[in-house]
Amino acid sequence: MRLDRFLSNLPRFNRQDVRQLLASGRVRVDGQVNRDSHAEVRVFSRVELDDQVLQAGKAARYFMLHKPLGVVSATEHPEHRTVLDLLDETDKHELHLAGRLDLNTSGLLLITNDGQWSRRVTAPQGKQPKVYRVETEQPIDPACIEVFAQGLYFRFEDLLTQPAELQILAPRQARLTLYEGRYHQVKRMFGHFQNKVVGLHRLSMGAITLDERLCPGQYRALTAAEIACF
Ligand code: URA
Repeated sequence: MRLDRFLSNLPRFNRQDVRQLLASGRVRVDGQVNRDSHAEVRVFSRVELDDQVLQAGKAARYFMLHKPLGVVSATEHPEHRTVLDLLDETDKHELHLAGRLDLNTSGLLLITNDGQWSRRVTAPQGKQPKVYRVETEQPIDPACIEVFAQGLYFRFEDLLTQPAELQILAPRQARLTLYEGRYHQVKRMFGHFQNKVVGLHRLSMGAITLDERLCPGQYRALTAAEIACF
């Protein structure tokens, strides 16, 4: 919400008051005097007028979880344990996932209460690389490298996938970098070559890499530098 709207929503100020308060430099947002009526006030912003706190600002929370197999990437599920069940945090209902992994995929999952941040993480225009370690049932056909780089046609969505980078590490093991996140994308890409994915693990999203110290099911808060990656 704009700062002037935030202030004029308070019963004691009319629009004229708000203009004066801002012009006189009495309003601070996150500790800084702010005279800009268009400045953005978020639920996480601390807003002060002189020595009064108008809004304390909610704490923004950001976590990385090493998602184990068999846990669903959702905040609620009738049958399965969800990734939120793995977090020992208060007010868990305020958290949501910045991207998902299939039930039988493990690896990096980002969880937050900051909707703007998670939209940046998942925005298709952002083209943030997501890196997966893939294990397949059959040896990987080297032709996959070129086909994945050119893009594959997905009939259901009627689209061509973004160029993806495949690095074959062993006959049945590869590292795949995607710049989007379509439904079951990795499995469908290998499915095109009649090769079943039997193991899938996400190593990184953008510049955030799964912390190797986290065992499956463990999580930690992101550092300020990690948060700033998006
Ligand atoms: N691609 C898949 O097929 N599954 C995932 O969980 C992630 C990417």
